Amino acid sequence: MKQLFLISMAAVLFNTALAYAENTDPGSVLFQRCAACHQTDGQGIPGAFPPLKNNIANIAATDLGRIYLVSVINAGLIGPISVGDTTYMGVMPAQGSAFDDQEVSDLLNYSVQVLDAKQAASQWKPYTAKEVAGIKAALSQNSAAHSASLRKTLTETSPQLFK
Ligand code: HEC
Repeated sequence: MKQLFLISMAAVLFNTALAYAENTDPGSVLFQRCAACHQTDGQGIPGAFPPLKNNIANIAATDLGRIYLVSVINAGLIGPISVGDTTYMGVMPAQGSAFDDQEVSDLLNYSVQVLDAKQAASQWKPYTAKEVAGIKAALSQNSAAHSASLRKTLTETSPQLFK
């Protein structure tokens, strides 16, 4: 009887350890806030919430793209933007007050490495809290409209990012 109890306790502990391992990417917990709109898998909802899957890794591979992504999370974004043939006329509320620099880097690293794993290049350089702090300090404006102007420049200089 006692043995059976010990075996079932061991099973409970093992399952708990497994669930814990799945949830230890700090970005996965933080991303729940984004998933309300962009969905858990980052696929978005066509016409309402743009996808992060299939393009965020490519955006993060460019210098301006890295700045743009920090600006969007920090200050939000106001449309119109296009991804492929779909236009979004939405407004993303600023998320800056919800996350510190470390959390912004965890969130972006999770979005690239887990949600967009297929596109993430092997030489991809993860964000650090220090880089996020530097980008925030260098942004000339902290506004959704400024994110939109960065998106416009990015679309003009690297149109392949949003195909
Ligand atoms: C309340 C809904 C909502 C939440 C929450 C939200 N977003 Fe957004 N997000 C949007 C909308 C709407 C847009 C497009 C805005 C537009 O049309 O200009 C957008 C755009 C973006 C873009 C730009 C995509 C592109 O193609 O340029 C990124 C990146 C992004 N969101 C990441 C995130 C992350 C990361 C989080 C969590 C910290 C988050 N969003 C939370 C609604 C949301």
